Amino acid sequence: MLALLHLLCLPLLSYALSNDAMRQRRVYQLVTDRFASPSNSSSAPCNVASAPYCGGTYKGIVGKLDYIKGMGFDTVWISPVVSNIGGTTGHGQAYHGYWTLDPAKLNDNFGTADDLKALSAALHAKGMYLMVDIVVNHVAATSGSSFSPSSSYGQFSTAASYHPFCWITDYTNQTQVEQCWLGDDQVALPDLNTDSSTVSAYWNAWIKKLVSDYSIDLIRIDTVKHVAQSFWPSFLASAGVGNVGEVLDGSPSYVGAYQKSAQINPFNYPIYYPLVRAFNGTGGNMTELINMSGSVKSSFSDPTLLGGFLNNHDNPRFESWVSDAALIKNAHAYSFVSDSVPYLYYGSEAGFKGGADPLNREPLWTSNFNTGSDLYKFFASLNAARAAAGNASTSFYTTQMTLTSLSAKDLLIAKGPLLSVLTSRGASGASNSINIPQTSSGWGNNVAITDALTCAQFNTASNGALSVPIEGGMPRVLIETSKRGSLCSNSTSTNTSTGGKSAAGRRGVVDGMLALSAGAVALLGGAMML
Ligand SMILES: *[C@@H]1O[C@H](CO)[C@@H](O)[C@H](O)[C@H]1NC(C)=O
Ligand SMILES: *[C@@H]1O[C@H](CO)[C@@H](O)[C@H](O)[C@H]1NC(C)=O
Ligand SMILES: *[C@@H]1O[C@H](CO)[C@@H](O)[C@H](O)[C@H]1NC(C)=O
Ligand SMILES: *[C@@H]1O[C@H](CO)[C@@H](O)[C@H](O)[C@H]1NC(C)=O
Ligand SMILES: *[C@@H]1O[C@H](CO)[C@@H](O)[C@H](O)[C@H]1NC(C)=O
Ligand SMILES: *[C@@H]1O[C@H](CO)[C@@H](O)[C@H](O)[C@H]1NC(C)=O
Ligand SMILES: *[C@@H]1O[C@H](CO)[C@@H](O)[C@H](O)[C@H]1NC(C)=O
Ligand SMILES: *[C@@H]1O[C@H](CO)[C@@H](O)[C@H](O)[C@H]1NC(C)=O
Repeated sequence: MLALLHLLCLPLLSYALSNDAMRQRRVYQLVTDRFASPSNSSSAPCNVASAPYCGGTYKGIVGKLDYIKGMGFDTVWISPVVSNIGGTTGHGQAYHGYWTLDPAKLNDNFGTADDLKALSAALHAKGMYLMVDIVVNHVAATSGSSFSPSSSYGQFSTAASYHPFCWITDYTNQTQVEQCWLGDDQVALPDLNTDSSTVSAYWNAWIKKLVSDYSIDLIRIDTVKHVAQSFWPSFLASAGVGNVGEVLDGSPSYVGAYQKSAQINPFNYPIYYPLVRAFNGTGGNMTELINMSGSVKSSFSDPTLLGGFLNNHDNPRFESWVSDAALIKNAHAYSFVSDSVPYLYYGSEAGFKGGADPLNREPLWTSNFNTGSDLYKFFASLNAARAAAGNASTSFYTTQMTLTSLSAKDLLIAKGPLLSVLTSRGASGASNSINIPQTSSGWGNNVAITDALTCAQFNTASNGALSVPIEGGMPRVLIETSKRGSLCSNSTSTNTSTGGKSAAGRRGVVDGMLALSAGAVALLGGAMML
């Protein structure tokens, strides 16, 4: 308690990260209401199916920052913070924060303004960053066509602030997508007239104040495609921090336009669908994924600024489809070893398997915040590999990857100094070795190589080629041992030969890296996808 009071007395430093600085981040996404509460026990009930508030708070998050940092994440994305509609609707309660009432007020279910400031300060004290989710496209109401704004909506208390009522019925009609309303008769999302200079001026002043009041480092923007592209540049300039935005569409040209023309850095939804398909069973091949990575390169101005993810709050967890532990790890590894900024949705490390919203928003407290699990260590190793690569080479974050098909099911991702092998062979698939030629790796002859995931060591041959065995269908994330930094520093792994012998099947214990040492649905539409 004393420590917390002390924090509150310190000036809140504004880190205000740029897009450039965002490239180096490793982001943990949580649902504030479902992550941690200060007083609930691990058995506190939370009936996710009926979608109630379950008690998670900012104070709860502060108490679990070491859990997040110990996994190697340095940025925490929290749910929208503004006040939401109350009561229980036909779609449950507004526990996720996406049903805005008055954007000038906070959602007091998650704590007070001082609690949010304390979370920001606690993150900064650990060298971590705060990413806040924001919604400017709409507010929420329990009436559709009969919606009549009131003073409860703060600035947006009159009809002049809204686009006239109409449901979005045709997602190929961009005018509708931008001006008609999301939602349904249970929860309508009245569409703000962001084309109006009064509305955009309000939002520009609002984001500047929000970022300043809570020392926010980065913003995640909801429902980007439902607002005209012309809205975003002045809004982002006013925010003054780096951004990632939700443009929920699988088309690289459609999503890429938001980066090229509107300065939004979208989540990599174009890769998401081929990524899932590549690992959604042992029959998956890499053709579509490789093809799409090429399309992403040509459709975006900078693929290294996209948000890479496998799970989030809007899609069924990958684990709801796939139970093969090797396929799960391969699919997750992609976001950490490819061009995008990696995002991990909370609960992936706890093996959660929830299906479509609301089942994918489980309370994490039931997991007991286990830092000893295989998956927790797996994500720590991936983050350490990314950190080691960035430490060893400043161009790691800006260099675009090269994808090569090694066979139908085996994919090589070269993003120097990391070289990764992902495979859809599955846990009981073939174990024949992968041969990585020097032309792909750029590694010298007779050089020691470490696998970040097992800490096994290999040596390149006298021609620079590396033969590396695939064990239990697991991915390999390789880096020259001389560049691995603190990665695997306390591992006792021994060198293996270049002939494809296994590293004795042992798992090296994950290194200390950032660790605790510092102290510390559908492709389109889906009305309720917010
Ligand atoms: C959890 O604790 C909070 C108080 O911190 C309380 O408001 C909430 O009702 C509790 N939730 C459950 C599910 O017990
Ligand atoms: C697109 O939607 C708008 C608004 O509903 C409508 O006025 C327009 O006719 C539609 N355009 C096409 C091509 O359907
Ligand atoms: C993954 O496979 C399951 C069937 O096992 C299917 O229901 C699901 O739609 C697939 N997911 C995607 C995104 O293709
Ligand atoms: C790879 O998968 C695609 C579907 O994504 C299919 O059209 C193609 O035939 C497959 N190629 C091989 C070599 O299996
Ligand atoms: C991806 O595949 C399509 C055909 O399905 C092809 O037209 C396109 O050129 C390919 N793109 C890349 C970047 O390879
Ligand atoms: C592993 O091999 C490298 C050279 O290939 C060598 O420098 C290093 O000492 C070896 N380590 C062990 C533990 O044998
Ligand atoms: C990367 O550099 C930072 C800062 O020097 C250091 O704390 C961290 O341990 C390094 N990470 C790795 C994996 O070497
Ligand atoms: C390696 O370091 C980590 C973090 O410092 C520690 O938790 C782990 O027990 C160590 N492993 C070994 C084998 O010493």
